[in-house]
Amino acid sequence: MKNSYEKLLDNNKKWVADQLALNPHFFDELADKQNPAYLWIGCSDSRVPANQITGTKPGEVFVHRNIANMVVHSDMNMLSVLSYAVEVLQVKHIIVCGHYGCGGVLAAMNNKQLGLIDNWLRHIKDVYRYHHVELDAIADKELRARRFVEVNVMEQVHDLGKTSIVQNAWKRGQDLHLHGWAYDVKDGLIKDLGVNFTNTSDLHSVYHLD
Ligand code: CO
Repeated sequence: MKNSYEKLLDNNKKWVADQLALNPHFFDELADKQNPAYLWIGCSDSRVPANQITGTKPGEVFVHRNIANMVVHSDMNMLSVLSYAVEVLQVKHIIVCGHYGCGGVLAAMNNKQLGLIDNWLRHIKDVYRYHHVELDAIADKELRARRFVEVNVMEQVHDLGKTSIVQNAWKRGQDLHLHGWAYDVKDGLIKDLGVNFTNTSDLHSVYHLD
């Protein structure tokens, strides 16, 4: 009996054979460099794989994932990914994609101590406080959680716009769009939340960096 992880290595060999059957140059074309047009900032949740749900192939999407798709401006990992994507790869679109039923967002809605992760969830709780008037007015807990997922994504789009990395790109005249989406694990569909930032004036003036 094989260990379950060994199945992944077998799958990999089959995948390589399948790709080569479709295009004998598949790996040669990707080996030299990547040229993705998109940076995806999504949740680590195993149900929300960036490439599969958007029908994109290797080489098309630069990906950063963490719990609840957060843009935390003191997170060196996120900042490094953002800097490389914007300044070197020159992506055209940055998509923050949250998802309904997000465990991180649900955990941030209640008061249970979970340990170290509470420090991460704190950032999500701050989003709740910014939007507490709207969120507290939603009596149904599931609907409130869904809206919390949406406003959290929109805050993270704002947080991207607040960074000097994004603002300097706009200042250089780089064509860079920020988007906020929410994926529904129940039906597989992505909802465009309608936030589309393309320059510094889309942000409150207190965040503008000269
Ligand atoms: Co999640």
